[in-house]
Amino acid sequence: MTHTPFSFELKLEFMKFEVLTIFPEVIGSYIKHGIIGRILSKGLAEVKIYNLRDFTSDKHKKVDDYPYGGGAGMLMQIEPFYNAIKHIKNDGNPRKVILLTPQGKKFNQQVAQEFLEKRAALLLICGRYEGIDERIKFFIDEEISIGDYVLSGGELPALVIIDSILRLIPEALGDELSAKEESFMGSFLDYPNYTRPEDFRGLKVPEILLRGDHKKIVLWRKKESLKKTFNRRPDLLKNLSKEDMKILKELCSEINIKILEGNNESVNN
Ligand code: ADE
Repeated sequence: MTHTPFSFELKLEFMKFEVLTIFPEVIGSYIKHGIIGRILSKGLAEVKIYNLRDFTSDKHKKVDDYPYGGGAGMLMQIEPFYNAIKHIKNDGNPRKVILLTPQGKKFNQQVAQEFLEKRAALLLICGRYEGIDERIKFFIDEEISIGDYVLSGGELPALVIIDSILRLIPEALGDELSAKEESFMGSFLDYPNYTRPEDFRGLKVPEILLRGDHKKIVLWRKKESLKKTFNRRPDLLKNLSKEDMKILKELCSEINIKILEGNNESVNN
């Protein structure tokens, strides 16, 4: 079986997620709220949750066992996963089966965007305990990690992936303008935001945000976003498109930041 990560074609109307977990209520509870809850209740995407314990043949609904060869902890058994994946795939619909694991390909904003653009159908497999029987690899398409740290299960990574993709759906944002801003800011760190009061114990909201000149505000935000990205995460400024580079150069000359192509040189706050 060979799989090329993230290069599949699934032509669906909307994003569809399926989650296989022993904690269905953890997933179910999170997705009811906020932006994600709204997107789902409007029918703009779908999340279907499967309880792994429904697919075990053990009468106590046990899904784990001791590892062969000894060692600490328990391993999740292959059979419930096999049964569940087979059952879910029975509808014949195309989907990508993704195992959440710290050993997988790193998830980021670009991957989230790609999945959304493809209106992908993703079956997210959540492991627990010390891991899953290695033979799971024969029944999945790829492995994804959300970062270089080890969590106690795949439920949080599944929610991270669902949340980060669904909030990119245009209807999730307030209006078209914020969608445009978001797409520009997508590769950079966020600009500073303020709400009432204007003056909190002498800490004032920047003047420009109070004057109502929207063009100036957009430019200010872009500059602030750039400055923050340059200072904290210059790695995000690599591989910029020509258009991004042009905007950056314009902004940088105004705020006295010097950017050399392919080499971030100096910062002047
Ligand atoms: N399961 C445990 N840790 C994880 C991680 N960092 N990413 C994805 N799945 C995980």
